[in-house]
Amino acid sequence: MSEYGNKLSWAVGKKTVLCVGTTTIDFVSTIRKFPVDNRSERAVGGYWIRGGNASNNCTVLANLGVKVEFFGMLSSLSVFQVLIDDLKARGIIIENCPSCDQEAPFASVILTKSTKTRNIVFCNSNFPYVGIEHFRKLDLGQYGWIHMRALFFENTMAMVKELMAYNAARQEKIVLSLEFDNSLEEMWPLMDYCDYAIFSKQLAQPNGWVSLEDACLQLDERLRMRWGLNLKRPYVVVLWGEEGAGFLDLDGNYTHVRPHKPKRIVDALGAGDTFVGAFIYGLYIRERSLPVAVDFGNRMASYKCTKNGYDHIANILLPPVL
Ligand code: FRU
Repeated sequence: MSEYGNKLSWAVGKKTVLCVGTTTIDFVSTIRKFPVDNRSERAVGGYWIRGGNASNNCTVLANLGVKVEFFGMLSSLSVFQVLIDDLKARGIIIENCPSCDQEAPFASVILTKSTKTRNIVFCNSNFPYVGIEHFRKLDLGQYGWIHMRALFFENTMAMVKELMAYNAARQEKIVLSLEFDNSLEEMWPLMDYCDYAIFSKQLAQPNGWVSLEDACLQLDERLRMRWGLNLKRPYVVVLWGEEGAGFLDLDGNYTHVRPHKPKRIVDALGAGDTFVGAFIYGLYIRERSLPVAVDFGNRMASYKCTKNGYDHIANILLPPVL
């Protein structure tokens, strides 16, 4: 069986995974030292790549042989065509995406060798976001798992409620995962509806989380303080970079999942997005337990950092050469 066939066989019988969010162009430059003000710095390497959280989640899942659909705003402007071509070339379904005629969002990314850090300046120039009117056109019966980024609260909440109404009338429910990486206060009400909530370390500082365990404990406390008898409680996963990840089960029990240290860090752009794609793959496609899926997500995120882009990650699935 071919390598591709092998990967696909694991996904056979599984419904499509839908990732809701944005797609952007990432312009990535690698430099030795971060520039001081008003100085120019010569890049030692660089490339551009299709980016955006949901778009990257799709790339990871597609590379793992999963039938995946991107659902986000596209643009009819010619510069955007490279993103559309790349999505199509990778077999990522985009047939239900609405389109506008605005400039594509883009990000300037700097990878600094001396500090092994990555900085992102994101420019979205009020690019429109998908909403309930687009979501209603989807045939939800095709999806087994929907992942959304907690962004544009009104739009996301309306889509989530639509999904809940669909699930309420069905035995075979669509799993919903949400990624929280900004404005937690505003996005928090979405917690009442999802099955899995994934938190980025970016939220630590604004929310006063001093450690991974503290983040999980504070989230647990907040979940316990909600009013209402029928509130759904999600599994909580918190990503904490070099310290790995932590998760809370439905009773609020905390577990730390140790990181896998990469042999070398070449490019950390999209490591969190890789975690999310791999985590969904572990739980949904391979039907593994939560600890195994979190560990796999950690492993994949770490392995992603050893090279640019996402095209090497599926090598992890290949059996060792004897
Ligand atoms: C990486 C990434 C980039 C994108 C940026 C902004 O996690 O998804 O590809 O430009 O975040 O959302």
